[in-house]
Amino acid sequence: METYLLSFYLSLFILNFLTLSSTQTTPNYSTDQQSLLSFKNSLTQNPTSLNNWSTNTSICGWTGVSCGPRHQRVTALNVSGFALRGTLPPHLGNLTFLRSLDVSSNNFTGPIPSHLSKLRRLRTINAGFNNLTGEIPPWLGSLSQLQHIHLNNNTFFGRIPTSLFNVSTLLTLDFGNNLLDGDVPKEIANFSSLERLNLEGNMFMGSLPYGILNISSLVDVNMRYNSLSGEIPNDVCSNENPKLKRIILYNNQLLGRIPPNMGNCRELEEIWLTNNSLSGSIPIAIGSLSKLEVLSLSINRLTGRIPKEVGNLTNLKTLGLSSNKLEGMFSVTLQIFLSDLNHSP
Ligand SMILES: *[C@@H]1O[C@H](CO)[C@@H](O)[C@H](O)[C@H]1NC(C)=O
Ligand SMILES: *[C@@H]1O[C@H](CO)[C@@H](O)[C@H](O)[C@H]1NC(C)=O
Ligand SMILES: *[C@@H]1O[C@H](CO)[C@@H](O)[C@H](O)[C@H]1NC(C)=O
Ligand SMILES: *[C@@H]1O[C@H](CO)[C@@H](O)[C@H](O)[C@H]1NC(C)=O
Ligand SMILES: *[C@@H]1O[C@H](CO)[C@@H](O)[C@H](O)[C@H]1NC(C)=O
Ligand SMILES: *[C@@H]1O[C@H](CO)[C@@H](O)[C@H](O)[C@H]1NC(C)=O
Ligand SMILES: *[C@@H]1O[C@H](CO)[C@@H](O)[C@H](O)[C@H]1NC(C)=O
Ligand SMILES: *[C@@H]1O[C@H](CO)[C@@H](O)[C@H](O)[C@H]1NC(C)=O
Ligand SMILES: *[C@@H]1O[C@H](CO)[C@@H](O)[C@H](O)[C@H]1NC(C)=O
Ligand SMILES: *[C@@H]1O[C@H](CO)[C@@H](O)[C@H](O)[C@H]1NC(C)=O
Ligand SMILES: *[C@@H]1O[C@H](CO)[C@@H](O)[C@H](O)[C@H]1NC(C)=O
Ligand SMILES: *[C@@H]1O[C@H](CO)[C@@H](O)[C@H](O)[C@H]1NC(C)=O
Repeated sequence: METYLLSFYLSLFILNFLTLSSTQTTPNYSTDQQSLLSFKNSLTQNPTSLNNWSTNTSICGWTGVSCGPRHQRVTALNVSGFALRGTLPPHLGNLTFLRSLDVSSNNFTGPIPSHLSKLRRLRTINAGFNNLTGEIPPWLGSLSQLQHIHLNNNTFFGRIPTSLFNVSTLLTLDFGNNLLDGDVPKEIANFSSLERLNLEGNMFMGSLPYGILNISSLVDVNMRYNSLSGEIPNDVCSNENPKLKRIILYNNQLLGRIPPNMGNCRELEEIWLTNNSLSGSIPIAIGSLSKLEVLSLSINRLTGRIPKEVGNLTNLKTLGLSSNKLEGMFSVTLQIFLSDLNHSP
């Protein structure tokens, strides 16, 4: 009996000690719980998708919430497509163990709160397909572990903040379908591990800077529907081991020749250059891209003969050559469609 009581008091003491030593400012499980409940309460309609966010169960079992294996702290929040409506509350910035935040495909409005700059461990932020607005937050550049940024299909405006080019770990940069303007920053070339670059459907102007199309890790680049002018930089595919698979630059005002260097990108599957003002002839080297499935060059000012090597492209599914000044359009025997924009990616 006495030992029982003793250990009872001892454990009370330890409990008390633990509670006291974890000061008010140290974030813990209940900080995360409070953050998530504040998030839920900030929504303008109570969505059925968050029905099981209830305090009688662990937050780690709540739908869309993932915790770390050791500590009961939230490491991922994924409420993509949960039909949520409202603003993003600053309280999300208290989820200090968060590595992945996906609030995409909802109806969030307003800016991204600056309190999210406290999420030092963040690797993925996906806020795409919402109605968010404001400038691209400059503090994103202080999150040194970021790998994937998706802010596409919102109404962000202004320039890409220069602070962002500090994040050397970036793999995905998706700012597509916003209201961004200005030049395409040459510092994008500093992202030496970048795999996907999407700036489509903005108001970018000026020429494409050197360096960007020569990032050796680059797989996908999409800048269609902007106002880009000038020539396609001829350093495209000039690094040792180009991984480029898709280059999508249609609906711009690009000038000059198609760089023959493109023939060095042996992984290329899709080339979309429709509706620009490109001139000169189609480089013969294009005919050596054996994985090519799309070669879309319609509505330009291309001249000369269609290289017979194009007939070697056995994987080609879409060939667009119409509305150019090419010779011998109909002498080429290619079993492919002379179609174009209706096969857009
Ligand atoms: C967690 O932190 C809050 C204050 O932020 C504090 O009141 C609470 O006692 C702490 N809980 C534990 C289990 O440490
Ligand atoms: C938890 O509370 C909710 C109401 O807030 C209730 O619907 C649910 O049944 C409770 N779950 C458990 C396991 O008690
Ligand atoms: C909440 O819902 C999700 C998805 O429906 C389910 O996986 C999870 O087990 C539920 N959690 C609780 C505590 O009921
Ligand atoms: C979030 O969940 C959706 C499916 O519900 C999934 O497609 C998406 O990849 C997830 N996001 C992250 C960052 O894992
Ligand atoms: C969570 O964040 C909000 C807003 O940033 C702040 O006012 C609040 O004190 C924080 N709560 C905790 C428990 O840290
Ligand atoms: C956003 O709200 C509109 C209008 O209520 C609705 O039609 C649309 O499906 C919603 N979008 C998402 C992604 O929930
Ligand atoms: C979000 O934007 C879409 C189209 O831009 C619009 O149809 C929808 O009503 C907007 N939703 C909200 C909640 O503002
Ligand atoms: C994204 O934006 C583009 C351009 O405004 C639009 O064509 C596309 O339908 C949008 N995607 C979704 C899923 O809303
Ligand atoms: C880049 O990061 C360093 C420290 O990591 C910081 O001192 C510097 O101000 C940052 N630059 C920008 C432009 O944010
Ligand atoms: C980009 O890289 C160049 C050359 O390596 C360097 O001089 C410059 O400071 C970098 N810019 C930023 C914003 O980090
Ligand atoms: C392309 O990048 C490589 C490094 O990956 C560099 O050595 C080469 O000089 C660059 N090419 C041009 C034309 O700048
Ligand atoms: C391409 O086709 C031509 C004939 O049109 C042929 O002479 C040449 O060897 C082919 N090249 C390759 C790499 O298959």
